[in-house]
Amino acid sequence: MKYFTLSFLTILLSCQSPEDQRTEEMQPDPHSYSQPSKAKVTHLHWVAKVDFSRKIIEATAKWDIQFAPGAKDIVFDTKGLSIKNVSLDDGEHTEFSIEKADSLLGQALIVPLDSKTKSVSIKYETMQTAEAVQWLERQQTSGKENPFLFTQSQAILARSWIPCQDSPGIRFTYEADVTVPKNLLALMSASNPQSKNETGTYHFEMKQPIPSYLLALAVGDIEFKAVSTRSGIYAEKPLLDAAVWEFADLEKMIQGAEDLYGDYLWERYDVIVLPPSFPFGGMENPRLTFATPSILAGDRSLTSLIAHELAHSWSGNLVTNATWNDFWLNEGFTVYFEHRIMEKLYGRDYEEMLAVLALQDLRETVQSLKAENMSADTKLKLALEGRDPDEGVTDIAYNKGYYFLRLFEEKYGREKFDSFVKNHFSSNAFKAVDTDAFKTEIQTFYKNTFNITLEDALFNEWIFTEGLPDNCPAPKSERFEKVDRVVSDWKDGKQFDQKTSKDWSTHEWLHFLINLPDTLTQSQMKALDSFGHFTASGNSEITTQWLIRAVRNEYSPSYAKLEDFLIHTGRRKFLVPLYTELLKTDAGKKRAVEIYAKARPNYHFVATNTFDKIVK
Ligand code: BES
Ligand code: ZN
Repeated sequence: MKYFTLSFLTILLSCQSPEDQRTEEMQPDPHSYSQPSKAKVTHLHWVAKVDFSRKIIEATAKWDIQFAPGAKDIVFDTKGLSIKNVSLDDGEHTEFSIEKADSLLGQALIVPLDSKTKSVSIKYETMQTAEAVQWLERQQTSGKENPFLFTQSQAILARSWIPCQDSPGIRFTYEADVTVPKNLLALMSASNPQSKNETGTYHFEMKQPIPSYLLALAVGDIEFKAVSTRSGIYAEKPLLDAAVWEFADLEKMIQGAEDLYGDYLWERYDVIVLPPSFPFGGMENPRLTFATPSILAGDRSLTSLIAHELAHSWSGNLVTNATWNDFWLNEGFTVYFEHRIMEKLYGRDYEEMLAVLALQDLRETVQSLKAENMSADTKLKLALEGRDPDEGVTDIAYNKGYYFLRLFEEKYGREKFDSFVKNHFSSNAFKAVDTDAFKTEIQTFYKNTFNITLEDALFNEWIFTEGLPDNCPAPKSERFEKVDRVVSDWKDGKQFDQKTSKDWSTHEWLHFLINLPDTLTQSQMKALDSFGHFTASGNSEITTQWLIRAVRNEYSPSYAKLEDFLIHTGRRKFLVPLYTELLKTDAGKKRAVEIYAKARPNYHFVATNTFDKIVK
């Protein structure tokens, strides 16, 4: 018994050091083979060569590790990697085993350990089809002269380019030495160069511990321009000046965020504008947000996306969802924080337009998940075991998460909620939190600090119940109410008047489009197009909303634009509603299949993985 207690204590001591991230009570991560309570990584030294001619990365990942006494091996996640050899502490090659492949999770790599092992080095190559990596030909870039590569690791794709413990609850620091063709620049989610060097080898350091889904690499003919002393923009030359102009408020956003919830702890904050095939709007890779060029609207109207990715520097990157079932903790907090940054910089009426749009999206998502018999996915706490975590990327995590947090603000006051959020970020910094831990934390904080009891029922209703609860906050936008009047007058037969719309922002136009009647005649579509110049719009959000309606109402003057947009945009948020709308009719389906055949070579795996299943 004594022995048991002692060894149990040593396990606790060795696994629960103060900087440790997961507590013992947390549920294991269903999307990773790693067993961190036995053995886990603490630091990565990645040495890699990027070979554009073969479309592979040759690399060695040297992992410093920590393990509980008696642990016999360490388990890594891999997917489609060709493992050349493994060694312990830079010694001779050692044996290892690769388990059976699962089409979602990949393969466990098991490396037996000696009792004194400090590090494990894995020499390997990626496959041409590595799911995280997109290799772009020169024609798919803006400059058209050089190839480009970028990675997208979230949620469980890091394992397709680096053998790692691919779970958001496991953190490590990293350094890297990456060799690329001499005319290209390499960037990572780490300290970054600002210009090319003679050697083509770049050194990176990330001193703050991160989870694997934040590992990122971009390689291309990329240039840099500063926005402030700690922030700037990377892009291909043809886009750089436009991007610097679009994101001129970057430093103000960082300061606004710091004023709200505490210091920015990652040193620099830069943004890279990627080629159009990037499948997301943005990805919060630490120190270097990856962004789609589709937010370069030319009028700074889509910059809330940057506020969102910046906010992840606190919610997500500093305090991380323990598993993908807790994804709403990453995204809901981030949308809430994003709205607060936008309100601080541009005023409450600007922010409330975003809030109304978010609620409308949310209601539609609740409806459509219900129609697809997927209502269980409308709970904040998800059940993604055995499923692709990508299925959890819906407006539920983002906007139901947002409205749940906004409810605390509205019910008990902003000041109280802000003090909770600030404390949440500082007391959980560099740790993972799951939904139960969040619940206990906020209940304890409100009780101890304000003597307020937050009833269990409140959490049950939002977190563990389907649909949208009745106590959902109601946003109010007077600017949108004016738009509503224009729509209803038009329905009553009144002509559009250019004067009323001359000061409309992108958001008012979006609200206008979203609230049009479902069915429109050809002459109505024509009148709308000449009122809003939608077919000619260069704003990706407006274009998407217009094209959905053009497809629905068979408005052929917009078809060429539709095809061009689907071929040249890789952002899944735009592609999904457009393909979905096309697939509703036989004629549309035929066009969807034809366009998809042309567009598919431009899309990242994240997008083809979605559309291969539905466009056929
Ligand atoms: N982290 C997400 C993108 C993501 C989520 C990638 C899950 C893979 C799996 C990013 O912060 C995000 O939310 N992007 C949104 C931005 C928007 C909500 C402002 C996007 O890409 O549209
Ligand atoms: Zn996000």
